[in-house]
Amino acid sequence: MPGVEVKVDGLTKSFGRANIWSDVTLTLPPGEVSVLLGPSGTGKSVFLKSLIGLLKPEKGSIVIHDTDLVRCKESKLYEIRKLFGVLFQDGALFGSMNLYDNIAFPLREHTRKPESEIRDIVAEKMDMVGLKGDESKLPGEISGGMRKRAGLARALVLDPEIILFDEPDSGLDPVRTAYLNQLIIDLNAQTDATFLIVTHDINTAQTVPDNIGMLYRKHLAMFGPREVLLTSDDPVVAQFLNGRRQGPIGMSEEKDTAQARREMAELDGSGELEGLPPMKPQLEATAGLPERKAVGRRQRRVEDMMHTLPPAAQEAIRRSQAEAAPRGRAQATGASPYGRPPAGAAPTAPASPNAPASPNAPGSTNAPAPASGTAPDDAPTQSIPRVTDGPGPRPPSGPTAGPGRHRFP
Ligand SMILES: Nc1ncnc2c1ncn2[C@@H]1O[C@H](COP(=O)(O)OP(=O)(O)OP(=O)(O)O)[C@@H](O)[C@H]1O
Ligand SMILES: [Mg+2]
Repeated sequence: MPGVEVKVDGLTKSFGRANIWSDVTLTLPPGEVSVLLGPSGTGKSVFLKSLIGLLKPEKGSIVIHDTDLVRCKESKLYEIRKLFGVLFQDGALFGSMNLYDNIAFPLREHTRKPESEIRDIVAEKMDMVGLKGDESKLPGEISGGMRKRAGLARALVLDPEIILFDEPDSGLDPVRTAYLNQLIIDLNAQTDATFLIVTHDINTAQTVPDNIGMLYRKHLAMFGPREVLLTSDDPVVAQFLNGRRQGPIGMSEEKDTAQARREMAELDGSGELEGLPPMKPQLEATAGLPERKAVGRRQRRVEDMMHTLPPAAQEAIRRSQAEAAPRGRAQATGASPYGRPPAGAAPTAPASPNAPASPNAPGSTNAPAPASGTAPDDAPTQSIPRVTDGPGPRPPSGPTAGPGRHRFP
């Protein structure tokens, strides 16, 4: 069964008189991986919380399986929420429970599985995120990166069909972020779940998603195939992807227009204005796992919309398709420090798709605020991974690489 489509139309959210964003329209294609970018404070987390019904937008609709989450009854919302697995930005672990109990919580609360089965599922997910052996530790005793990974494991125990990750990579070092990115692609290959990932990590945005969106100035500046944003020469995109101080984006979201213009003019004058970073190939699932079903579906979808895309994006898509055609699948990369099964091992099948969940379950859609004793999740300390092998070099892949430039419509 393909993943679940999430159709958002004309969504508008304000808190009192403060409008956060207006008229957000996008469709998360079933089973594809999408990334949402945007300067701090543009409402990315508010968007994720709106998607699962924790926040109520005033206008617009969010349709999943023919149900509009903005308007449906609470009981229906409760049902739909069972499809979601969410990693909140703050991790939201129970501070008084050890990691094992935190991760087992949704299974104990919302399924009737025997403890022996729960133990197997928790062990599998903890191994997957590299926390094997840390079962008895409390959230307050581990690093920010470990807490993040525990939140990740908890978000996955009910085998969700829609996975929302709010900055899964913040607080992780670059190596672990690389493994996490591979884990996301591998999970997608195994489950065909629909992913939406909020990240500030440019490498993640370049290598993981099928689609990229960007929130800016209270609107969704764009959402579409990754090549469209990655080949855009819009100043906002270029500044964001280059992590540059000069440009329209300021410390508190956006700059005074006049100042931004002055800076851009200065940069243009000095010839120092950087273009976009070069495009990178999209990650493939680790060899031995099933191919991502989304790749073929996306290819057909992008073909159908090709004539609507900017020329640079079209060129990038065509180039990468031509490069990908004669190439086989990536070679085995071995086990990851997150303890994934080695290449060739049987994929971890969802233990119970559609397992019941409740909006009150941590790791489900309504996880509690972090309990006292839980340190901030972006703590700088990191755990030492049980690295058994590194990610091997992967050939460029996916139907999506190639340079090009395009301005936002
Ligand atoms: N429950 C709330 N009540 C009132 N205002 C809120 C609430 N939640 C968020 N906001 C406001 O909405 C705006 C967007 O917040 P949000 O957390 O979604 O930003 P973000 O894009 O996720 O930023 P970051 O990248 O820093 O995580 C902020 O101004 C924030 O203060
Ligand atoms: Mg946020």
